[in-house]
Amino acid sequence: MIGRLNHVAIAVPDLEAGAAVYRGMLGAEVSAPQAQPKHGVTVVFVKLPNTKIELLEPLGEDSPIAAFLARNPSGGMHHVCYEVDDILAARDHLVAEGARVLGDGEPKIGAHDKPVLFLHPKDFCGTLVELEQV
Ligand code: CO
Repeated sequence: MIGRLNHVAIAVPDLEAGAAVYRGMLGAEVSAPQAQPKHGVTVVFVKLPNTKIELLEPLGEDSPIAAFLARNPSGGMHHVCYEVDDILAARDHLVAEGARVLGDGEPKIGAHDKPVLFLHPKDFCGTLVELEQV
């Protein structure tokens, strides 16, 4: 059912420092920072030949990654995003299998202007999973 790995998201306390690691030490192509106030994060995109890494820094008071960074002060892997063709069919299949969808269970428009859902980490090997319809 799931398709390509769309991105791996890494929460960081300092976006400039994180971007410098990927650009400098790892020699990757890194975008300019993009503030996404609706999502409570500022993002840089690290372009890899087969996928992307997104470095997320909290933006504003109620950032969804604030609690994660409080538990992981030096940063850490926050979620993985898999592509699906039909997000409602994917959700219905997963719910029927006993998986928990976060929030009200309805897809939201995500950071790439496409419908997304998040799945409970306890149902997916301890990893927060984002599904994105492509
Ligand atoms: Co994501």
